[in-house]
Amino acid sequence: MSILKALPRDFHFGVATSAYQIEGHNENSDWWRWENTPGKIKNGDTSLVATDSWAHLDEDIANLKWLGVDFYRFSVEWAKIEPQEGRFDEAMIDRYVAEIERLKAAGIEPMITLYHFTFPGWVAEKGGWDWNGLPKAFERFTEKVVSQIGPRVRMWITLNEPMTIIAAGYLSDVFPPGKNDLRSIGAPMTHMVQAHALAYHAIHRLLDSDGFRPEVGLAHHLRNFDAFHRLNPLDRYAARKFDQIFNWAIPNALSSGVLLVKLPFLIRTRAWIPEAIGTQDFFGLNYYSRDRVQVRPFSHEPIERRTTPGAPVQDLGWEIYPDGMRRMLDRIQVIFPGMPIWITENGIADRTDEKRTGFIRDHLAIVDQEIQNGAPIRGYAYWTLNDNFEWAEGYSAQFGLFSLEPGTLKRIPRPSAFDYRALIESVRK
Ligand code: FCB
Repeated sequence: MSILKALPRDFHFGVATSAYQIEGHNENSDWWRWENTPGKIKNGDTSLVATDSWAHLDEDIANLKWLGVDFYRFSVEWAKIEPQEGRFDEAMIDRYVAEIERLKAAGIEPMITLYHFTFPGWVAEKGGWDWNGLPKAFERFTEKVVSQIGPRVRMWITLNEPMTIIAAGYLSDVFPPGKNDLRSIGAPMTHMVQAHALAYHAIHRLLDSDGFRPEVGLAHHLRNFDAFHRLNPLDRYAARKFDQIFNWAIPNALSSGVLLVKLPFLIRTRAWIPEAIGTQDFFGLNYYSRDRVQVRPFSHEPIERRTTPGAPVQDLGWEIYPDGMRRMLDRIQVIFPGMPIWITENGIADRTDEKRTGFIRDHLAIVDQEIQNGAPIRGYAYWTLNDNFEWAEGYSAQFGLFSLEPGTLKRIPRPSAFDYRALIESVRK
C-alpha cells in the first residue's frame, strides 16, 4: 500500500526541465551573452553542452518511462526557433514536434513551456521585458509554435516564474538584464502580464475545437516570506510586502486585470490589463522554500532574506520547508476557489542524494493530505530529471534524479530515482 493514501491512481506524476538548462548549443540567446561575461556564472561554467539533451533523447525518454512518469514538462527555445526577428527556423520547430511524437509514443504527455527565462539576442537588444513590443512579439512566436505543434499538446505554460526574472534580473543583478533598481520593475511586470494574456488567447484561438480544449497556465514561483523575528513589526511589514508583490501581484492581475505594485515612497504601478482577466485554466505552482525577512535600517544590507536558524537546508542554503507548500496550496484555494492546481516544479539541490527522497516524500505527503481535504491538485513534477546548467550556479547545484557521468554524459540514476519510481508505482497499483 502506498504511503500516499488519497492520491488517485490517475494522479499525474512528472518531471520538469527547461531548454536552456539541458540542450546546450544556444549561442543566439541573451543568456549566452550573459554567461560569457566574466564573473556571472559560478566557477566560470558554461551551458555550451549542458546535458546535450538532443543527443541523449533516447536515453532520457527511456529513463522517463522507467521512472513511470506520465508527463514531462519541458520548454521550447525561442532563440532557436526565431533566430532573427520574423525569421522562423521551421526545422527547429519540427525537431520539437518529433520529440513530442516520441514522448507520446512512449505514453508520456508533454507539457510545454513557451518562455523559461531566455530570449533570442534580438529581443534582448530591443530591451527584453522592458520593450513595449515584447507582448506582441511573444504572441507571434506563440502563434507560430502552437500552429505547428497543434493539438498534439494539451497542457501549455506561457511563462515560467515571471517574478524570478524580476527578483534576479531587475533587483539583484544575478540574471540578465542585470539591473538593480526597484523603480525599474513596473514596466517589465506589465509586459509579462500582457504577454501571458496574448499568448493565452492565441493558444485557445488556434486550438479550441469541438473535441479539444487546451489547458493554459503560468508557472508561479511562490515562496513563504516570514518575519525573521516574529514579533518585530519591521520584519513583519517587509515579509508581508515581499509576499504581496513577489507571490501575488501577478496571479491577482490574471484574475482581476489590475496589476498593482505598491511600496510607499519607492514604487507605485497600477496597470489595467483587461485582456488578462480569467487567463488561467490552472494554477501552476513552483514551490521550493521559505525566506525569513530581516530589516536592519542602519546596516549595509537593510533588508535581508535569511533562513530560519537551525532549520534543515539544501545545498544552495534554501530552507527545506514542506509545510510551506501546504500554506501556499491553501492560499491558492482561497484566492482561486476550484481552480485546478498543477505542481509544475518542486525539487532539491542535493549532491549527495541524502535528502532527496525525504524531500519528495514529505512534499507529496502534503499533496496527499491536501487532496484528502478536497484540493483539486492534478499533478506533481519533480525538478529535475538530470543535473543541469543551474543558471548563475552553473553545475554546482545538482537537482537531478540522475547525475551525469563526466565526459560521456551518461545518465546515472541516483538512489532517489529508484525511490521516486517506487513511489509512483505504489500509487498506480
Ligand atoms: C526554478 C526555475 C528552474 C530552476 C529551479 C531550481 O526557480 O524555474 O529553472 O532554476 O528553480
